[in-house]
Amino acid sequence: MVNSNISISAFVRLFVAEFGLRTNVWFITPCLSKDNRYGHPAPFPEELVKDHILSWSNEGDLVLDPMCGSGTTCKMTKQLGRNFIGIDSSEEYCKIANKRLEQDKLTKFA
Ligand SMILES: C[S@@+](CC[C@H](N)C(=O)[O-])C[C@H]1O[C@@H](n2cnc3c(N)ncnc32)[C@H](O)[C@@H]1O
Repeated sequence: MVNSNISISAFVRLFVAEFGLRTNVWFITPCLSKDNRYGHPAPFPEELVKDHILSWSNEGDLVLDPMCGSGTTCKMTKQLGRNFIGIDSSEEYCKIANKRLEQDKLTKFA
């Protein structure tokens, strides 16, 4: 039985904690600050990408992002033990994505 006076986000937290399920509304903060946009105007939040990868794929799977922008999907896919293919029409954004992936490598072996 759920108390009807709690907020929607509190309900979602309780529901997910108790049943391990997701509703179709996810509460994730967008990348509002320029500092966490990696030079791209509209990167996905890492948390959003991570949740999708965990929901729809298994370790070792191949994840394709045909509009990968700054490479958030590629980065999180790699961190979660999946393989990835990232494509973007902008050479500039591909360079940003490659840089993020290199940084991820350095962080792992540091
Ligand atoms: C919303 S952004 C993706 C952001 C990405 N998820 C991230 O976290 O950085 C959409 C991307 O689609 C790319 N794009 C647009 N049209 C495209 C096309 N026809 N083929 C490949 N990439 C395209 C844009 O350059 C842009 O980087």
